[in-house]
Amino acid sequence: MAEEVIIVQGNGVLAGDVTVSGAKNSALKLMAASLLGSGESVLRNVPLISDIGIMAEVLERLGATVVREGHSLRIDTAPVASCETPYELVTKMRASISVLGPLIGRFGRARVAMPGGCQIGARKIDMHLVGLEALGVRFEVDHGVLVAEAPDGLHGADVTLEFPSVGATENMLMAAVVAEGTTLIENAACEPEIADLAAMLNAMGAQVQGAGTPHIEVQGVSLGSMHPCDHATVGDRIEAGTFLVGGALTGGPVTVHGIDPAFLRMAIMKLEQMGAQVETGADWVRVSRTEPLRCTDIQTLPHPGFPTDLQAQFMLLAALADGTSVITENVFENRFMFAAELMRMGADITLDDHHALVRGVASLQGAPVSSTDLRAGAALVLAAIAAEGESRIHHLEHIDRGYEDYVGKLASLGADISRVSA
Ligand code: EPZ
Repeated sequence: MAEEVIIVQGNGVLAGDVTVSGAKNSALKLMAASLLGSGESVLRNVPLISDIGIMAEVLERLGATVVREGHSLRIDTAPVASCETPYELVTKMRASISVLGPLIGRFGRARVAMPGGCQIGARKIDMHLVGLEALGVRFEVDHGVLVAEAPDGLHGADVTLEFPSVGATENMLMAAVVAEGTTLIENAACEPEIADLAAMLNAMGAQVQGAGTPHIEVQGVSLGSMHPCDHATVGDRIEAGTFLVGGALTGGPVTVHGIDPAFLRMAIMKLEQMGAQVETGADWVRVSRTEPLRCTDIQTLPHPGFPTDLQAQFMLLAALADGTSVITENVFENRFMFAAELMRMGADITLDDHHALVRGVASLQGAPVSSTDLRAGAALVLAAIAAEGESRIHHLEHIDRGYEDYVGKLASLGADISRVSA
């Protein structure tokens, strides 16, 4: 397919209401979790994004049938007979590694290609392996394929994660739910998507307590007692945060619907520190700004700390704020590529290892820019809306991985934006 580009005429307008899609970083794991129940599960509020299509391919390769009906997926895992996920799918999407835990839970073994790194870092899985080994799994690597066996079955264990890894917590959860005995995961990831996964697992018959806190306790149940379920994915807090930044950037007001404000406490605190006004309701957040943007310092940390997936978006706010902001990226090794593209639009940023020194400038100029990763791409489009003149954003495949109808949603908020063949 010919490359497409997003063309934006910087008009500085984003105002109105937008509803976010379901959370990419939950839906992908919920799809994997469906392997633990034999039969048809229904997932609702699933975003229409390319990563979901790849995870559907992974499940179909295992033998499942996946039928999309609007924003719902019907996943029948009864026919699943394979426990192998090939290299060409894992390289397409490293989140395919999320099938490791449920495959081991279902079959007692798995063959999953080792995921490579990506633009933002090495993306190691050592903590996934250490955690699963504690449950009785033995691993070998056979020419790039991770071969997992649980020769004596899965048994409960007390495991403390060195770092609250989202993926490691999820893979461990999806094996521990059918391990014999009790599993305690200490220093577990607390991202809202973990609680969403646990809610689905419990709806399937699992007994998980404490998800969303650093201490998760799992009482193992028999695989045979796990059953399909009907579950709705939570709203995407990162997509929501992206639109809230758009409202703070332009003055808004932008009201984001379909999100629990509790998922965005740190981002909301930072928006207010930077001079925005924020109102919240049960499932919506409104942001506006009448005074100049103020600088602030940001440290990305595991939830409830500042989300690394909103770092690029807030760097854009800092680039147009009065004063100098220091942004420290503590979660990934290489997540400042967005800065280089933003500097092409006139931002004044100095990078030093994990720190970015962002000196606010009065305005940005439109320019041809390239998306380097999912969140940087989304932030570049916002930068183009705030910039003077025309911008063309390339490499939209990154944006399509995690934002459903991003152009349509921004246009509905008043942006002068279109997507055309390059
Ligand atoms: C999930 O990645 C998200 N992806 C990421 O979102 C998100 O940035 C990240 O969590 C942190 O919130 C999905 O859910 C599909 P981690 P994950 O395991 O699970 C290191 C986006 O833009 N690490 O918490 O891979 C790792 O290298 C994406 O939507 C190990 O060293 O995150 C990273 O530096 C980007 N060994 C850090 O920990 C391990 O075994 C955090 O990784 C596991 C992780």
